[in-house]
Amino acid sequence: MQLLYPCLIVLLLHSGQSQAKRVVGEGPIAPSTRIKGGEQAEIGFAPYQVSLQPVVGAHNCGGAILNEQWIITAGHCVENFVPALVNVITGTNRWEEPGAVYYTSEIHMHCMYDQPYMHNDIALVKLTQNITFDEYTQPIELPTRPVREGDEIVLTGWGAEEAYGSSAEYLQKLTLGFVPLEECLRIFNQTSSMGVGHLCTYSREGEGACHGDSGGPLVSDGQLVGLVNWGRPCGVGLPDVQANVYYYLDWIRRRLSGNDKCPA
Ligand SMILES: *[C@@H]1O[C@H](CO)[C@@H](O)[C@H](O)[C@H]1NC(C)=O
Ligand SMILES: *[C@@H]1O[C@H](CO)[C@@H](O)[C@H](O)[C@H]1NC(C)=O
Repeated sequence: MQLLYPCLIVLLLHSGQSQAKRVVGEGPIAPSTRIKGGEQAEIGFAPYQVSLQPVVGAHNCGGAILNEQWIITAGHCVENFVPALVNVITGTNRWEEPGAVYYTSEIHMHCMYDQPYMHNDIALVKLTQNITFDEYTQPIELPTRPVREGDEIVLTGWGAEEAYGSSAEYLQKLTLGFVPLEECLRIFNQTSSMGVGHLCTYSREGEGACHGDSGGPLVSDGQLVGLVNWGRPCGVGLPDVQANVYYYLDWIRRRLSGNDKCPA
C-alpha cells in the first residue's frame, strides 16, 4: 500500500506530478495524490479544504481548517518538514490560485506517529496569523460521534485522477461509504498497518483517493471524520484507509489547548 501524497523531490523536479507516499504489506504503497472517479466540486463546496505547498505553487497534500489558528492533516504530509516548508493555501477551488496564503509557526506530529508503521498518521499545524473567514474559507467541526454504516462521507482533494498522475487543477469531490474496521482488516489480510485509529471508506472500483489527496478531509454530516492516510493506488477496488478523527479527539483537543508535551 502507499501513502497518498506526492514525493517532494520528485514534485520539485517534475512540477505537478505527485508521487507515492509509503508502501505497506504486499505491493507498493503509494501516496494519495488526486481523487480518482470524482467530480469537480462547486466553488465554496468545501471551504475548510486547504492545500499544503512546500513552495507556493506546488501542491503536496490536503488538510482542513479547524479554527483561526489550526490546520489538521496527515502526519506523513509534514514529517521532516520545517514550518517554512508548510505554506497553507485557503479559500480556493484551484490550488494554483490561492484565496490566501498562510504560514506555519509550529508543526505538531502525533507522538506515536508511524509507531507501529502507518499508525497515528495525523498532525496539527499552527499558523503564524489568524485565518480570515469568508464564504470560501471556513472551519470544519470535529466529530461528535463515530462514523456508522450507512453514513455518507465526502472526500475532497486535488489528488491525481490516475496513480502517479499530476494533481487535479480543480478541487474534486467523491462520496464514499463506511467500511467497518473488521471487514477492512479482512480485506487487507489483517495487515499490521491498520488499527482502531483508522477509518476505511469505499465506493466502487474506479473511485477513491489517489496521490495528492493525502492529509485531505473526509466529511460526514458537516463533521470532519477522516484524513487521507494510505491506500493501494488508485481506485483499484479496495477501501482507502484514513486517520479516524473521532479516535484522535482527545489528542487534538489537548494540542489545541496548548498541552503539547510528548512523553519523554
Ligand atoms: C486569533 O484567534 C484566536 C482564537 O480565536 C483569538 O483568541 C485571538 O485573539 C486572535 N488573534 C488576533 C490577533 O486576532
Ligand atoms: C490477501 O491475500 C490474498 C491471498 O494471498 C491475495 O490474493 C490478496 O491480494 C490479498 N489482499 C490484499 C489487499 O493484499
